[in-house]
Amino acid sequence: MDATNNATAAKLTVGDKSWEFPIKKGTIGPDVVDISKLYGQSGMFTYDPGFTSTASCESQITYIDGDEGVLLYRGFPIEQLAEGGDFLETCYLLLYGELPTAAQKADFDHSVTRHTMVHDQMNRFFNGFRRDAHPMAIMVACVGALSAFYHDSTDISDPQQRLIASIRMIAKMPTLAAMAYKYSIGQPFVYPKNDLDYASNFLNMCFAVPCEDYKVSPTLARALDKIFILHADHEQNASTSTVRLAGSSGANPFACIAAGIACLWGPAHGGANEAALKMLTEIGTPDRIPEFVNKAKDKNDPFRLMGFGHRVYKNYDPRAKIMQQTCHEVLTELGIKDDPLLDVAVELERVALHDEYFIEKKLYPNIDFYSGITLKAMGFPTTMFTVLFALARTVGWIGQWKEMIEDPSQRIGRPRQLYTGAARRDYVAMSKRK
Ligand code: SDX
Repeated sequence: MDATNNATAAKLTVGDKSWEFPIKKGTIGPDVVDISKLYGQSGMFTYDPGFTSTASCESQITYIDGDEGVLLYRGFPIEQLAEGGDFLETCYLLLYGELPTAAQKADFDHSVTRHTMVHDQMNRFFNGFRRDAHPMAIMVACVGALSAFYHDSTDISDPQQRLIASIRMIAKMPTLAAMAYKYSIGQPFVYPKNDLDYASNFLNMCFAVPCEDYKVSPTLARALDKIFILHADHEQNASTSTVRLAGSSGANPFACIAAGIACLWGPAHGGANEAALKMLTEIGTPDRIPEFVNKAKDKNDPFRLMGFGHRVYKNYDPRAKIMQQTCHEVLTELGIKDDPLLDVAVELERVALHDEYFIEKKLYPNIDFYSGITLKAMGFPTTMFTVLFALARTVGWIGQWKEMIEDPSQRIGRPRQLYTGAARRDYVAMSKRK
């Protein structure tokens, strides 16, 4: 949609005053009106709570076409990356902008692999938590605490330190995530193994025990690696915007990623995969689907179909399609013939996609709709679902953080407001208050 018809400026007229603002064009996707001078020229702010019509930055990392259901990482379609490469290749692509050569890939894999251990004193952190602490609470705490251990990579003005912090974050998230899981089930931590690939290493740290050898299923490792690719980055979503805003003050990258984890935890965002599985479990059987679909359509009922709808996708989330295929692969590999939750999910999707309410509001399954069923089948508890989302999204967060820090026009983010509170009034002494 070319709304600007090649115009180079937008004109705003208020009463007898007019102002012109430049239109900036991207490679693909909507043009933007640069209103950075609006307040200085007109004394007015724009108003866009939820940022439905606001571009917060310029970026070259990820492109989404919500109407067409398209997702590109550095121009490459998500479907091709998920099929053709592995997660660390996607990490390299998101960080550096190009697909790695074989030598570059080997070097990157080697570098990440050799940063997978965490400082052994991190273990003491875990002993402060109750065993039933939500692992996302543990992740927010421990990732933030990494700043206390890695002072040699918190100077964000040093490109080398920014790079090592990026590698450390990508490398250590699986180790911390697995530790959070092991702690919750009272099993000893399993150290990373340098002879395993990224996804296999994570599965081994989660499911191996000291008493016997654990053999990672190559099919499950490949499926998990693909799930990580699907979750790696997604433009300026809520948690990425949180990381960018935190980073704009000069905060160190570990603290910024901890802020992103906190934001992702919400059920409207990354917490939806945990909430979607809980919803499917509560529905229980296909015959109860109409009851829940009616609740989701009822304006007076706050219930929403978790894993459905999206701020940007007004078409099928391309990741959800791959997620559904991966779900079937995992269930087949595990010999799970008929998973009642999958039966409910497939029927719920069919009913919703034929319902006028969902059609009119363009509500489709998103990435969180099928991921929970897959992760549950792999043996992860629902409380770990968003942890895995955070693990995979770390490369997107750190890549967007790095792009922001390296943008010469970067300055602290400081939005304004529409104030509707009390106008100036004088203090009233206690004796005079009614
Ligand atoms: C992620 O931004 C990203 O890119 C996020 C993400 C990423 O990779 O980073 O893709 C990951 O967070 C995916 C989304 C996961 N969340 C959920 O599945 C939770 C359920 N979905 C909704 O809460 C909702 O769809 C959002 C939060 C995802 C989007 O909310 P919006 O864009 O603010 O849309 P909205 O709430 O204004 O809804 C528009 C209309 C409303 O009805 P009206 O007020 O216009 O009458 O659609 C309705 C909503 O009530 N609606 C739903 C619905 N989602 C929206 N009705 C029932 N069930 C739903 N799931």
